[in-house]
Amino acid sequence: MKTILITGGAGFIGSHVVRLFVNKYPDYKIVNLDKLTYAGNLANLRDIENAPNYIFEKKDICDFDAIKTLFDKYNFDGVIHLAAESHVDRSIKDPFTFARTNIMGTLSLLQAAKEAWKDNTDGKLFYHISTDEVYGSLENGGFFVETTSYDPRSPYSASKASSDHFVRAYHNTYGLPIIVSNCSNNYGPYQFPEKLIPLFINNIRNNKPLPVYGKGENIRDWLYVVDHARAIDLIYHKGKNGETYNIGGFNEWRNIDLIKVMIKVTDKLLGRAEGESEKLITYVSDRAGHDLRYAIDSTKLHKELGWEPSLQFEEGIEKTVHWYLDNQEWLDQVTSGEYQKYYENMYKIKS
Ligand code: NAD
Ligand code: DAU
Repeated sequence: MKTILITGGAGFIGSHVVRLFVNKYPDYKIVNLDKLTYAGNLANLRDIENAPNYIFEKKDICDFDAIKTLFDKYNFDGVIHLAAESHVDRSIKDPFTFARTNIMGTLSLLQAAKEAWKDNTDGKLFYHISTDEVYGSLENGGFFVETTSYDPRSPYSASKASSDHFVRAYHNTYGLPIIVSNCSNNYGPYQFPEKLIPLFINNIRNNKPLPVYGKGENIRDWLYVVDHARAIDLIYHKGKNGETYNIGGFNEWRNIDLIKVMIKVTDKLLGRAEGESEKLITYVSDRAGHDLRYAIDSTKLHKELGWEPSLQFEEGIEKTVHWYLDNQEWLDQVTSGEYQKYYENMYKIKS
């Protein structure tokens, strides 16, 4: 019997991690802590919300007293920390919120864990979920490995890099048992439609412009979200204290090529002629400081812990498009209200 705190469990990746742990480990108690910001949605967890080993706590990770009280209440064995502000475009408009949540929120969890586990750290683990963006932009080829120097270039990645540094500082200074993993771009069900893939599927369906930043030449390395959740499970249980693991599927795509694949798959499922929706492609101003290329080398995770992705990209993207087309109600719910204002302001076009 273990009691594990998962933060940000109502978000995209967090909901897949919560679902996996609740279903796979009936003997564990899984406590999902989430503030339910615009990105957090309990509808992401409808299928497991009544499971006997699942508890939801609506809290802000920055509220140190509330977090301390939670550690006293549940006596956690481990923390899997995903709660964060996660969208680069929002970080460019509002860096303060990113610094507060991603840095101060992480610090508050670290301090609460340190205090709760001060007499005995046996079997305890603070597992911090981070991103490949902390390594910067690969302008001249190569891959990010675990020892690549940090070079964050957006307010989002700077805040994540800072939180990674605090996690390692708590390990080095106070002996807190920690692991950090840095993953590439995720895609799949329940991703908030501000991110490229769900935004574009939704727009293709609704015959709305597809806003491609710059020339569409930036490269990202895409991983199906369930494979990230599987990696997190493996690392939580088998990873070594103090280590860092990179997670990625060696699956690089230029944005414009990926967009054409999405169009092809979506048009087919909507019964449109092949490539019909390419007319929706609209080149818009580039993202400020737009990183050119990310590419993760996950050899260490493969060699040491035996992880590999379960899905090929073609299968993953088809499953994903299917899911968004079949879950229009979910999309309608998350794109109502505040989302409309965000969208108009971000893209300066009426939705
Ligand atoms: P998301 O934006 O979908 O979800 C974030 C969740 O955190 C939401 O449920 C939100 O309500 C919650 N949250 C935000 N602020 C909070 C606060 N102050 N207190 C409590 N809860 C709060 O994010 P995601 O895409 O699922 O990313 C999850 C984590 O994985 C993040 O740490 C992100 O940096 C990291 N990551 C994401 C990707 C990706 O491709 N999405 C890749 C690598 C790493
Ligand atoms: O690499 C991991 C990171 O991937 C995570 O840490 C972040 O939380 C996650 O949001 C993601 O960051 P990106 O900025 O790479 O993802 P996004 O979906 O926002 O954009 C993917 C690419 O598509 C990027 O090059 C910008 C481009 N883009 C994005 C949007 C939203 C467009 O061309 N048009 C758009 O409207």
